[in-house]
Amino acid sequence: MVADSYPGIDIVVIQRIRTLLTSNHSQQFINRTFTSKEKEYCQSKPDSAIHFAGRFAAKEAIKKCIMSSGEISIIAFKDIEILPNELGAPVVNIVSESLNEYKCRVSISHDGEYAIANAIFTL
Ligand SMILES: CC(C)(COP(=O)(O)OP(=O)(O)OC[C@H]1O[C@@H](n2cnc3c(N)ncnc32)[C@H](O)[C@@H]1OP(=O)(O)O)[C@@H](O)C(=O)NCCC(=O)NCCS
Repeated sequence: MVADSYPGIDIVVIQRIRTLLTSNHSQQFINRTFTSKEKEYCQSKPDSAIHFAGRFAAKEAIKKCIMSSGEISIIAFKDIEILPNELGAPVVNIVSESLNEYKCRVSISHDGEYAIANAIFTL
């Protein structure tokens, strides 16, 4: 089989996430979008909105990879878990049996008003 790669990218205005996190729908947004370990990680940071925004961008970037691969047409945010390794680098775990053969890598950055992430999916 020939290896194929699918890229994805996303940018998020951190204030958009901050507004959601301080709204009445905060818990609903967090619980629908992030796993409990992701929530724990982001909330351990002094300004959690930045880290939630980075992970949100990463999940959107990964969804683009997956959708452009044609392997699957829809995936829930919580089927994608992004946690730091011992170096702090983000590691992706896709909770979907049909995507087990794929390898997904992501990189996250945040500065000022924006968080950005790019991802690559390889079969
Ligand atoms: C890794 C490094 C390049 C990140 O650069 P930065 O400009 O500070 O951070 P950015 O805003 O661009 O990116 C932050 C994201 O980088 C990612 N990241 C952190 N460490 C990483 C690493 N070792 N490798 C890859 N990605 C990493 C994380 O996803 C982080 O987002 P998160 O905190 O929401 O999980 C920088 O911290 C570095 O050079 N570290 C080397 C070790 C070091 O100096 N550590 C300092 C602690 S003593």
